[in-house]
Amino acid sequence: MTAPEIRQQFLDFFASKGHHIMPSAPIVVKNDPTLLFTNAGMNQFKDYFLGNRAPAWKRVADTQKCLRVSGKHNDLEEVGIDTYHHTMFEMLGNWSFGDYFKKEAIDWSWELLTEVYKLPKDRLYVTVFEGDAKENLEKDQEAFEFWKKHVPEDRILMGNKKDNFWEMGDTGPCGPCSEIHVDCRPDSERALVDGKTLVNADDPQVIEIWNNVFMQFNRLKDRSLESLPAKHVDTGMGFERLVRVIQGKTSNYDTDVFSGTIGHTEKLTGLKYGCTDSKPDVAFRVIADHIRAISFAIADGQLPSNTGAGYVIRRILRRAVRYYFSFLNWKKPLLQDLVPVLAQQFANVFPELLQQVDFVQKVVFEEENNFLRTLDSGIRRIEDFMGAAKEKSVDGKTAFELYDTYGFPYDLTSLIASENGFSADKEGFDAAMKEQKDRSRAATELDMGDWTVLNENAESVFVGYELSETETSVAKYRKIKAKGKEQYQLVLSQTPFYAESGGQVGDTGILTFGAETIQVTDTKKENNLIVHFVDKLPANITTTAKAVINKNNRLSTTMNHSATHLLHAALRQVLGTHVAQKGSLVNPEYLRFDFSHFAKVSDEELAQIEEIVNEKIRANIPVVIKELPKEEALKLGAMALFGEKYGDVVRVVVMDPGYSVELCGGTHVGSTGELGIFKFTSEGAVAAGVRRIEAVTGRNALAFVNAQLQQLKDIKTALKNPKDIVAVVDNLINDKAALEKRVEALELEKVRQLSAGLQAEVENVHGINFLGKIVDVNNAEALKQLCFTLKTQIDNHVFILAANIGGKANVALMISDNLVAEKGLEAPKIIKEKIAPIIKGGGGGQKSFATAGGQEAGQLDQVITQVKAML
Ligand code: ALA
Repeated sequence: MTAPEIRQQFLDFFASKGHHIMPSAPIVVKNDPTLLFTNAGMNQFKDYFLGNRAPAWKRVADTQKCLRVSGKHNDLEEVGIDTYHHTMFEMLGNWSFGDYFKKEAIDWSWELLTEVYKLPKDRLYVTVFEGDAKENLEKDQEAFEFWKKHVPEDRILMGNKKDNFWEMGDTGPCGPCSEIHVDCRPDSERALVDGKTLVNADDPQVIEIWNNVFMQFNRLKDRSLESLPAKHVDTGMGFERLVRVIQGKTSNYDTDVFSGTIGHTEKLTGLKYGCTDSKPDVAFRVIADHIRAISFAIADGQLPSNTGAGYVIRRILRRAVRYYFSFLNWKKPLLQDLVPVLAQQFANVFPELLQQVDFVQKVVFEEENNFLRTLDSGIRRIEDFMGAAKEKSVDGKTAFELYDTYGFPYDLTSLIASENGFSADKEGFDAAMKEQKDRSRAATELDMGDWTVLNENAESVFVGYELSETETSVAKYRKIKAKGKEQYQLVLSQTPFYAESGGQVGDTGILTFGAETIQVTDTKKENNLIVHFVDKLPANITTTAKAVINKNNRLSTTMNHSATHLLHAALRQVLGTHVAQKGSLVNPEYLRFDFSHFAKVSDEELAQIEEIVNEKIRANIPVVIKELPKEEALKLGAMALFGEKYGDVVRVVVMDPGYSVELCGGTHVGSTGELGIFKFTSEGAVAAGVRRIEAVTGRNALAFVNAQLQQLKDIKTALKNPKDIVAVVDNLINDKAALEKRVEALELEKVRQLSAGLQAEVENVHGINFLGKIVDVNNAEALKQLCFTLKTQIDNHVFILAANIGGKANVALMISDNLVAEKGLEAPKIIKEKIAPIIKGGGGGQKSFATAGGQEAGQLDQVITQVKAML
């Protein structure tokens, strides 16, 4: 069976058991401060478990793109070293939201593995939670009983909290779990060592493939467990491991999930992958693994960057580069070449990669190229260091600098050091690393308290599409501390406040509780909760409140959001349909739009785009907003954004059905005429293949235009109000150039005349043609010119010419080459020793010509006397 067939069978099996098949959520998480990336299939359903939202289906199954490289679940350093951990992996999952529980989950997982996939029963082991006295949790006897129907008791193993109690993160849904493990060893080995003893013992051939979690609790910040409103099932099966087991391989990398990219890497490098522990083989695995994480994260909208999720992606990419650089002896971008291979492989299951393949490839290429250059400079840095070092050791500070500035992991530094007979200071490196981590932790620390719930049934309803104020009450609140600042978050039973999403900033405004007014400084989403940020709690938080948004800000923001849709469509019309949104900010002042495009947008294109948008504004097109099933919306040609999660019913915003149809949850004007006018304020690059446009609408656009006009008026006034201002400025520029030419010619003439006069003043000092003179010139260049002119006329010379230029001392010293060679005279040395101290300044240059400048213009005579005396 091929990997795609295996995946399809899983989905078909659970569809036959009444499950709705969902698409994978994006790998990059928005709206959840506890996660950067999706780390389990259940993330997108967190709200269903917590009871914050009712599920549309009680049974769901999918394959989810997951990434475990940060936070509670982090496998990065294992990847490539062993044969069964990954950064990105697919998690096949089935869920029950308050519907079936342990019995069905256990029966079906057994049926699928043994009857559909036909895995030999005698190679399977299952584990059950043994209970935990400290947490007051009992043994999962129920699961044990259900397993007993399928599995002999001696293959049902008890597991502790670490292995058999699954938690999403430090807080959040959790519960006891049952895992299924497979023993893939050959019969000869199985006869010698009982597989049971190898379960959960890091044996590469006895591995967990499926985890069935029975969600019952919510882990709170204070570490206590609270029971969930209902009981749920959350399962996750590692797709890559399942494929390996079914295909009878000893490594995930030997399956058709990875053979495409590994084969391509072999072709490129001319090396052969051998499935051993050798460094080159580890490199092959690292590359095949990491390129998936990088490509899918970028396709889901996460560009590599210096902070947050972007930094994680950058680090993964750099790890892969370091492996091919060090162990495959490959020094140019390689990963980018694998992107199209991967895109084709996943075209049917995750089409977002193929749809953006050129863009993703370009981003990866640029990122690799930059890092290879950095690595190169790092190698020069360590070589310089070793060249100059007194002791044969790379100290911790230098090792850390190599890591921090040049991306060298300690291992690479230590490798290069030992190749050159040097040691490296691991302890010093670790200490410097810890110091940096402590610093960055302090800067980003986010401390969230537990919610205090006042009204359990409140649903946090958004009424802000229609209303700007409403009566409401606080449903729950909590204290948070971000970057040292204490704030509170409130959830209201209903609210007119728009929570930041789709680029549109959150509303600000006020809440009044009786006579007390509280400012709302921001509104954000957390999963599907609308969270209001306030600096203090009201004295009486349980009374009804009035929530009122800042209407002016909302209106300006709304105008900019509608303008963003008009702009997006115009960009695609003028530049091409490869243009896809890569970032957006819509606030009361302006809009910022990032999009994929490989060249600068020319002035002509910008003018054309701006004109299209303004035409649509003048046409005063009604903005039609409707809720439709997603499939229907897509049929209408609605533009969905990569990396966004959409429900089955979507909100569609239409501005002229043939022009702009977008899926969007933002606020919009009634008709486009309300925008008044649209003006670009800037265009530039933000990253490889991503351009950024900023623009303004309405009152801000008018203010922008007025400011430009005022500037023009000021220029006109300065030029005495000419009729044709452009012609006048052109003339000024031309006149200035002509005058500069004339001044240059006059100065040359002056130098010529001066040099003629100076020739007569040359003296013979011990056979040297010496000229020492204060001359009347007004720039240092003239002194230089004089020396070079005189040089062509007088040989065997020492010239020292000085001038008072604007109250400062300027000196030029020229010595003929023969004197430099024969007498060892050196102009910079003379300047340093004899001249600089007198004029209180400094200078330098070549042995035969050097200049100096200083404060003491009154001492120039002294300078000449000194040099002459020296001769
Ligand atoms: N959420 C469970 C896991 O990730 C299934 O293992």
